[in-house]
Amino acid sequence: TAPKPLAGQRVLVTAGGTVERIDPVRYITNDSSGKMGFAIAEAARDRGAEVTLVCGRTETTAPNGIRVVKAESAAEMHEAVMERLAATDIVFKAAAVADYRPLHRATQKMKKTTDQLSLELVRNPDILQAIGEWKETNGGKPFVVGFAAETTDVEKHALDKLNRKKCDLIVANNVAEAGAGFGSETNIVSVYGQGGLVEHVPQMTKRAVAERLLDIVQADVKGTVKR
Ligand code: C5P
Repeated sequence: TAPKPLAGQRVLVTAGGTVERIDPVRYITNDSSGKMGFAIAEAARDRGAEVTLVCGRTETTAPNGIRVVKAESAAEMHEAVMERLAATDIVFKAAAVADYRPLHRATQKMKKTTDQLSLELVRNPDILQAIGEWKETNGGKPFVVGFAAETTDVEKHALDKLNRKKCDLIVANNVAEAGAGFGSETNIVSVYGQGGLVEHVPQMTKRAVAERLLDIVQADVKGTVKR
C-alpha cells in the first residue's frame, strides 16, 4: 500500500470562482476552473488527509472521497472557511474570490429601462487575510498556503501578498504565460515563503504541481506533519 504521509491531517481546500449575484438570473464571476484546487484536494486525499473542499463555481464536478461544501459568494465562502478553521491543520486557498460584489441584489429580474446603468459594487471580505489574522490569536495554526495570479512583477506581488495576508507560503503563477493559469490542464508556478523563493515548479500537470506543493508543505511543517 502507498505511504500516507498526511494521515490524520485535516486539509481544507478552496477552489473555483465565487459568484456574486446581481438579480435572480445575473451574476459576476471569473474564469477560474477549479482544477488546481481539485488537484490539490485529490493529491491530499491520496496521501491520507481528511479533506474538505469549499467550492465556488467550477467547470467540472468535485473529486470522490472528499467532503464538498458549496459556497457560492465570497461572503458564503468566508463563513464556510472561518467556521472550519479550528478543525483544520492546513489550508490551501486556491479559490478565485471576487474582490467586489453588487451593493444591492435585486429580488426581481432587472428591466432595461435606461440607456446607461451603473452597478454599484462594494468590497468583499478578504478570506485569506482573515485567516492570517485568526492564526495570530490561535497559536499560529493552521498552516496557510495562498495563491497569487499575476501578469507582471510576479515575485514582488507574491511576496507583498505573503506578508500582508500572513501566509506561510504563496504559490504564484503568471497567468499571462502559455500553459499556466485559468482553465489550463497544466501550470507553471513559483512558491515563496518568508525567506523568499522556495521553488520554481516548471510546466507540468496540475496534479503534478499539487504533489510538489504537498512535498513542500510537508517539509515546511515538519514536526506537526508526519513525513
Ligand atoms: O489579492 P489576491 O486576490 O490576488 O490574492 C489571491 C489570494 O487571496 C488567493 O489565495 C485567494 O483565494 C485569496 N483571496 C481571498 N479573499 C479575497 C480575495 C483573495 O481569500 N477576497
